Amino acid sequence: MTAPELKIMTLDQAVAWQTAIRREHKTLAVTNGAFDLLHRGHVEYLNQAAAEADALLVAVNSDASVKQLKGPERPLVGEQDRAMLLASLQAVSAVVIFNGPKPVDVFSVIHPDVYVKGGDYTEDSLDREEHALLKRAGARFVFIPFVAGFSTTSIVRRLRDGGSAPAASHGTAGPALNNALDTIFCRRSVRHYQLRPVADEHLVAILQAAMAAPSACAKDPWQFHVLKNDGLRTDIAAVLPNGRFLAQAPTGIVVCGDLRRAHGAELSYLIQDCAAAIENLLLAVSQLGLGACWLGVHPRQDRVDAIRQLLKQPAEIIPIAVIAIGWPAEHPPKRSRYRDDAIHWEV
Ligand SMILES: Cc1cc2nc3c(=O)[nH]c(=O)nc-3n(C[C@H](O)[C@H](O)[C@H](O)COP(=O)(O)O)c2cc1C
Repeated sequence: MTAPELKIMTLDQAVAWQTAIRREHKTLAVTNGAFDLLHRGHVEYLNQAAAEADALLVAVNSDASVKQLKGPERPLVGEQDRAMLLASLQAVSAVVIFNGPKPVDVFSVIHPDVYVKGGDYTEDSLDREEHALLKRAGARFVFIPFVAGFSTTSIVRRLRDGGSAPAASHGTAGPALNNALDTIFCRRSVRHYQLRPVADEHLVAILQAAMAAPSACAKDPWQFHVLKNDGLRTDIAAVLPNGRFLAQAPTGIVVCGDLRRAHGAELSYLIQDCAAAIENLLLAVSQLGLGACWLGVHPRQDRVDAIRQLLKQPAEIIPIAVIAIGWPAEHPPKRSRYRDDAIHWEV
């Protein structure tokens, strides 16, 4: 294991390190953040980020940068200590401290294969300058939601209020997960696959599960295109900005809806039916020991048009999503993203 001190680098050192890992044909993921008062949410996030590539570089905000973004009372932990804590994690390969509110200097010279960001960011809501630099580098974007119930802000609030940690959690905030529902909690997005092919009998079983989903008035408007052809799968991957890894998956399924068959020929019913089928499909994949990831298509019109053209479909057929499927080369832990504040008990 590399000593943590050696993982903390200046930007020049990080550039040299990047050159060295490229020479070994390794892929690089980069994420950035303050990582003030490191907590379980951070660690789970970084574990997932690390699973996206062979090496993970974390660009951590300097103290001045955190103050600028979060106010004079932050950070709680100084930059060198935050860097040391991050560098001590197995998931983290390298750490650089950056100044200024955003890591544009880092992205000018570090060119990741994957850019990982937490929370509810999307490609559209990323800072434009950062986005342009990462796009130019050809980075794939991966957005990982924060683990519910963990945040530095909530820890600070508890400290101020004199409270203690919430009851022990088992992969979630809130009550312990019911093991009888493991089928649901163990389904996670899998984005790295073994080279091993997926047998047709598995694909048929998965499609049986998909077509057992609820559907408005049982209209079953879904259509499934199984991507056994490598060239077609690669072409479809190329039109999915957050799904390029489909090209490395042994197979995939494009889930489409036929508007003519949908209840009342209404798009909303078509989408709801297809979404139910997709969830069934994903649960079946997971139960069979396979891995899959939902890749968004609808409502991005450019993706809809490109896929429709590649599959030679008429305008009434609406591609909703592509599901990358393969034998998993990563195993994200079971969890729920349970949130008390999402529940309204109407008593
Ligand atoms: C409508 C929709 C679109 C999605 N699009 C993508 C995508 O393009 N690329 C990707 O890697 N994951 C995509 N996902 C997967 C989500 O990122 C993932 O489900 C979420 O982060 C929760 O993680 P989990 O599936 O492991 O529970 C999508 C999920 C949904 C429901």
